[in-house]
Amino acid sequence: MQLGKITLQNPVCLAAASWQLDGTGYERLGAIFTRTVTMEPKPGLYEEGIWQVADQTLLNATHMRTESAEILVQEHLPTLRRHGVPVFVSITAPGIPGFRKIARFLAREAAELIAGVEVYMAQPDTEKGEELNAKFVREATQAVRNELGPEAAVIVKLPPWPEHIRGLALGAQEGGATALAATNLLKALHLPDDATAAPIAGGLSGEALRPVALRCVWELAHDARITLPIFGTGGVFTASHVTDYLRCGASAVQIASGEWLEPGISARLAAECGHLVPASL
Ligand SMILES: Cc1cc2nc3c(=O)[nH]c(=O)nc-3n(C[C@H](O)[C@H](O)[C@H](O)COP(=O)(O)O)c2cc1C
Repeated sequence: MQLGKITLQNPVCLAAASWQLDGTGYERLGAIFTRTVTMEPKPGLYEEGIWQVADQTLLNATHMRTESAEILVQEHLPTLRRHGVPVFVSITAPGIPGFRKIARFLAREAAELIAGVEVYMAQPDTEKGEELNAKFVREATQAVRNELGPEAAVIVKLPPWPEHIRGLALGAQEGGATALAATNLLKALHLPDDATAAPIAGGLSGEALRPVALRCVWELAHDARITLPIFGTGGVFTASHVTDYLRCGASAVQIASGEWLEPGISARLAAECGHLVPASL
């Protein structure tokens, strides 16, 4: 897969998910995407906020903690770079000025250390009930692109909304994205067995997400206006899941739940899938 000037050696990549990585065989991966960082650290849950809600299906509680971009540069990047594959930093912010600020920080402190960024498109202002829309995606992408310069790889990660994903992707493309990732977590609710416990709001991933994410990739790949390469993300556990994404129009895949449930699975699949090339549409 070609991402600007970077060529990924393998279609299997590690998705944004964890700092506690197995590490074995990661030199075979196409790329490593970091867990999302924010400009300021945000307190919240980590492992204790992840529930297995069905077979190979996880729910990440809302209000997960994020670490700061500064800790990323000081502590995590040196470790991640040891594997010798491109590292993309996942970033998010509550609004456009926030995206500008974190991208400026990375351009200053880490431009030589990273292959690019993945922009986690959060809703602009959930408290006001605003939905993520193409204008916000375009402006956030543009803000990041302007700070990182024309050469940097900017991957925009979108939510699993098949009905709306093409409009959001066009916003990313107009804003200067290099590639798309489809998808992020699907909003879901988990009811613990204890009937007195409060429902847990969060994001669904893994096996149950895969058909939705495949549909999203397919929608993007079959829209003549969208020319960006696509990372398929959701429920990859086997080599045939990788092939499914490539058949739907993805150029590569990212794995999160698989790695969480079965550490080392990404490197194993990379060893099996190195020869695969994306199907032409
Ligand atoms: C434990 C866990 C943590 C995650 N953390 C992040 C994150 O920090 N940033 C992000 O963009 N996506 C995050 N995700 C979403 C994944 O990157 C991925 O988009 C989603 O889980 C679908 O892929 P999967 O089915 O392989 O898990 C996380 C997923 C899991 C399971």
